[in-house]
Formats: sequence, C-alpha cells, structure tokens
Amino acid sequence: MSQAIVTTALSKVYREGKIEVTALASIDVALMEGEVVGLFGPSGSGKTTLLSILGCILRPTSGSLGIYGHETSILSEKDLPDIRRRFISFIFQGFNLFPALTAYENVILGLKMKGITGSDATQRATRIMAEVGLADRMKFLPRDLSGGQRQRVAVARALAADSPIILADEPTGNLDHSNGRKVMELLREMASSQQRCVIVATHDNRIEDLFDRVLYMEDGSILREKRG
Ligand SMILES: Nc1ncnc2c1ncn2[C@@H]1O[C@H](COP(=O)(O)OP(=O)(O)O)[C@@H](O)[C@H]1O
Ligand SMILES: [Mg+2]
Repeated sequence: MSQAIVTTALSKVYREGKIEVTALASIDVALMEGEVVGLFGPSGSGKTTLLSILGCILRPTSGSLGIYGHETSILSEKDLPDIRRRFISFIFQGFNLFPALTAYENVILGLKMKGITGSDATQRATRIMAEVGLADRMKFLPRDLSGGQRQRVAVARALAADSPIILADEPTGNLDHSNGRKVMELLREMASSQQRCVIVATHDNRIEDLFDRVLYMEDGSILREKRG
C-alpha cells in the first residue's frame, strides 16, 4: 500500500481578535491507499479542522501536508484547487445537495466540478446511481428522497469522479442508526474495493467496527489509535 496523505507536525491556531484557539496541536499521521479510517473524538476536538486541512480547503498554521507526494505547504493558494480537483472528494453531514436539481443532476454537477462532462459523465452517473441502489430514484428531487437516500446520492457524487481520497464529516449524523450503518457500509464497500483512502470524522461509536483503523482525537491531538 502506498501513502495517500502524510502530515508532519500539522497545527492550526484560529485567531479571533486577541483570542487564540489551538484547534490542532501537532498531528503526525500517514493515511494509506485502500484504508478506511475513522476519526473519533468529542465535539471541539479538531475533527472538522483536520478534515478541512487534509482536503485543502483550509490551510494549516504550520507543519507539512503531502497529498500523493505533492507537498502542499510549498504551494500557493491558487494551486490548491487543482490538488482538490485531482485528489479529493467530500461528503458532508447535511448532504449538500442542490434542492432544485434531481439526484442524477446532483451527481452530474459534482462530476462537472471535477472537469468530467459529456457522455463520460452521463455514463458514470448512471452507473454509480445503480451501484448505490438508486436507479429508480434518479429523477427525484432531494426533498422527495429519504435521509438515507439523500446521503447515498452524496456518496454517489463523491465516488463518481474516482477521486483517490474521500473525506466525510459526520456523514451519518443526520441518519438513524440503521440508515447510518447502511450508508457507512456502502461507502466502505465501494471505496475499499477501489483502493480509495477514506477518512470519516464521526462520534458515532456504533459504527466503529466498520473501520480498518480508528484515530481518537482530543484537544487537537491524536491520543491513540486502534486497528480493526
Ligand atoms: N472558524 C473558527 N474560528 C475559531 N475557532 C474555531 C473555528 N472553527 C473551529 N474552531 C475551534 O477549534 C476547535 C476544534 O473545532 P472543530 O475542528 O470544529 O472540532 P470538531 O469537528 O471535532 O467538533 C474548537 O475549539 C472550535 O471552537
Ligand atoms: Mg466537526
């Protein structure tokens, strides 16, 4: 297995006027291809901050972050969108679907943002909708889908572009236990069969068994880890 993400002494300090909040202390972690990793920790422990930095939507205060061998700390702001487009897809707790677009169109739009259009996009979107079990819901608007189905659209959108890194922030947070587990199992199955590196921030202990490795965060540090 090769390394998808490597961080060294990664830190993030938020400054609000005179107040400083150290959201990440000094994170050293290597995340591998084909690995489904859970990021656990109480609210405020730094999970969202870490995911945002790994996804290159937030810059660290110090430290290094390598994405598939590209050291991002030496890149300028204008180079980061390209790293995101090539390597990263997100899944959010609130699904982030466009309400006026159908399930299928939401996936198509996600592909367009990755530069994938035309028949390549339509074929991918149709295939992935079937794979997530929504072939008969393609023309539905998000409001006509259940929470579990909406999250499956978000999973489809994230996986359709074949990004090697999938970052999910509390993806089961708006779902009941059974639907949350199903979505997480789907994500795990589809991602690990294709050697993706999947990182899921959650505080849902009931899905802990679905991870290859679990990192436990507290006060901006990874305190310990456990292999599944
Ligand atoms: N934009 C921000 N400005 C200032 N402080 C922030 C900001 N975002 C998060 N924080 C603080 O950073 C810490 C970590 O937050 P966060 O990464 O959201 O943790 P988690 O996702 O584990 O709940 C918390 O103390 C939070 O209040
Ligand atoms: Mg969070």
